[in-house]
Amino acid sequence: MLVLISHRESVKITLRPETENDIEAIDDLLNLAFAFDAHSKQDETWILQNLRTSGKLLLSLVAIDEAGELVGQIAFSPVEIDDGSPEGLKDWIGLGPMSVNPRLQRMGIGRQLIEAGLNEMKSRGVSGCVVLGEPGFYERFGFETCGNLILSGAPAPFFMARAFKGEMAKGIVHYDKAFSGD
Ligand SMILES: CC(C)(COP(=O)(O)OP(=O)(O)OC[C@H]1O[C@@H](n2cnc3c(N)ncnc32)[C@H](O)[C@@H]1OP(=O)(O)O)[C@@H](O)C(=O)NCCC(=O)NCCS
Repeated sequence: MLVLISHRESVKITLRPETENDIEAIDDLLNLAFAFDAHSKQDETWILQNLRTSGKLLLSLVAIDEAGELVGQIAFSPVEIDDGSPEGLKDWIGLGPMSVNPRLQRMGIGRQLIEAGLNEMKSRGVSGCVVLGEPGFYERFGFETCGNLILSGAPAPFFMARAFKGEMAKGIVHYDKAFSGD
């Protein structure tokens, strides 16, 4: 089991995988963190539940503060990349959703969630990770925009990827149907 304890700017948190008992608190967190996000359709709790139900939630880490409150969360799920080959690429993942309680943002919790999450997924042997989000944030973690890796409908500067091994993937990226409900 993955457990990390860290101290930064007076917020001491523990990271661990989500359990069933966390789901209500995760939903509350997502609703709070994305409430005023203009890029969000406020469907993050629905997506996560779809991923859980379909067994596609590869990893969901939660950050717990000293009082036992769930203050952050990050999720990873598989993506498929149509690179023109008969099989396509099936060993890449997508990061998201992720969020930190607005009360505790900019205090290093998001960084710890991403670093621990990526390390865990790397250790499982995945080839790379894609993310749709704020470049100013995700570039800090080695993500870069790639002209040859495309997510339909996403503005190119906001769709980024990081290869863990081998070359950067090329092709059309498909998130799991949990994201669209199709
Ligand atoms: C994005 C989010 C998860 C970041 O969490 P956080 O705990 O505030 O992030 P951290 O404090 O660990 O920040 C890590 C670094 O990124 C920077 N950073 C944080 N938010 C940033 C942003 N929106 N844009 C650019 N840089 C940002 C921090 O200043 C910090 O820099 P430093 O390491 O040089 O000091 C949080 O702001 C959030 O929940 N936002 C609402 C939901 C959302 O947008 N989720 C992501 C899309 S799925």
